[in-house]
Amino acid sequence: MSVELKSPRELEVMRQSGRINAEIRERLIEAIRPGVTGLDLDRLAKDAIAKHGAEPTFVGYAPFGKPPYPGAICFSVNEELVHGLPSDRVLQEGDIVSIDLGVTYNGYVSDAAFTAPVGKVSAEATALMEATRDSLWEGIRAAKAGNRLGDIGAAIGAVADERGYGIIRGYGGHGVGRRMHMAPHVPNFGTPGKGLKLMSGMVLALEPMFSLGDPETEETDDEWTVVMSDGRLAAHFEETVAITEDGPEVLTRIS
Ligand code: MF3
Ligand code: CO
Repeated sequence: MSVELKSPRELEVMRQSGRINAEIRERLIEAIRPGVTGLDLDRLAKDAIAKHGAEPTFVGYAPFGKPPYPGAICFSVNEELVHGLPSDRVLQEGDIVSIDLGVTYNGYVSDAAFTAPVGKVSAEATALMEATRDSLWEGIRAAKAGNRLGDIGAAIGAVADERGYGIIRGYGGHGVGRRMHMAPHVPNFGTPGKGLKLMSGMVLALEPMFSLGDPETEETDDEWTVVMSDGRLAAHFEETVAITEDGPEVLTRIS
């Protein structure tokens, strides 16, 4: 398994891709409210991506014989973990919704996701989202040259363990660049000091997924949507992160 190192020029294009991704995320967050559907948000994302002269990475994505992915976003509500198809399902007060967005700009992909409340949500939903977001930032802090992949996974996993959440093991982060899914796979659990050594020039999408209940998942009949087997809530956050000489640089942020 060889992991690609990006040149400074490639990193600059990935920054641009990430900035577009971050800008559209802000628009999506503003649009989330009771009454809105996944198709509404998908339309917003598709229009915004086109306005930026970029392409929706997810549209038509069809790994290992799956039906081509139809959306610019993934739209996963409540017990849906990831890869939910944008539909006419109407968001209700109290739901939590995970939105994943891929942007390809000048050939380079940025991949980011967040889970957000729809109106007022339960305290347990809020705490689950907070823990998952915090774990992403712990993982980002560990994403530095000289550390190993296990340090990232351990940092993320420790937050779930401390706060009593399940860690979804069947899905994780990944290398990203000219393609969305590249080596290495980045698990959300691990042993400090173990695994691939991190080097400056690597770009990784970190994406912790935590569950309120049992972390077991299954795929629905649409062949995409991943749901929690016990029907309880799950949350998902993702950022595209470059490992640089100066430490981790989050590419999918405005600033
Ligand atoms: N961030 C998600 C992942 O890495 C994006 C999936 S896009 C889809 O799995 F098109 F595959 F759904
Ligand atoms: Co991803």
